[in-house]
Amino acid sequence: MRVLFIGDIVGQPGRTMLKEYGRRLKEKKRADVMIVNGENAAGGKGITKKIYHELLEAGADILTMGNHTWDKKDIFEFIDEADKMVVPGNFPEGVPGTGIRYIKSGRKKLAVLNLQGRTFLPPIDCPFRKADELVREASKETSLIFLDFHAEATSEKLAMGWHLQGRISGMTGTHTHVQTADARILPEGTAYITDAGMTGPYDGILGMDREVIIQRFHDTLPARFEVASGSVQLNGVVMEFDNDTGRARHIERVHISEDAPFFD
Ligand SMILES: [Fe+2]
Ligand SMILES: [Fe+2]
Repeated sequence: MRVLFIGDIVGQPGRTMLKEYGRRLKEKKRADVMIVNGENAAGGKGITKKIYHELLEAGADILTMGNHTWDKKDIFEFIDEADKMVVPGNFPEGVPGTGIRYIKSGRKKLAVLNLQGRTFLPPIDCPFRKADELVREASKETSLIFLDFHAEATSEKLAMGWHLQGRISGMTGTHTHVQTADARILPEGTAYITDAGMTGPYDGILGMDREVIIQRFHDTLPARFEVASGSVQLNGVVMEFDNDTGRARHIERVHISEDAPFFD
């Protein structure tokens, strides 16, 4: 099974980029499944019902989320019926949504997990213990298991990759919005990258307008961040898993921007 993962869609520019390149990229990379992180899809923070459907129509088979999951109150109205969305599974007991979903491709089934780190992020439940629990659950259903670990600290993401190596097929980190150059297959057969990067404005700061952020670093005052305008980038990874063993065979980074145009 080949999986295309596309990093955090930021606002309208990110959504337009997904519409323009998502399906073409899936085809070009011969991916069976396209997983998209949607935590910044609505104005840079959160997601609405309309945008949830927009991302699915653009070709996403399933959406993962992160620390901005709850930023648009709309989410509480539709999350119970959003069966193509997985949210960090280590939010406290009673929080809506699920940290595990399955996608079928032919006769094969992929488990998609989502967890959130707690280093420099709100102190939610332990992602490592929850990972063990979700991986145990998923392993009863399939040998193909993918995790989007949404976390700030490189060390926390690396720790998760090594902790789960040999038990899951692939892991991408998300949240820092800058693609890391460390895509590899860990020795026991887990494809890994610390951060897939994001899909949105190329000349902003993490997708947001840079002037406001530069100003904030000068004066430290609260400020309203807006999604940046201008040219756009898409970032992600493609992974290939052995259908029988679940071991990763291949991982490659994907980056499209004005510096690295997409050619048919
Ligand atoms: Fe994000
Ligand atoms: Fe995030």
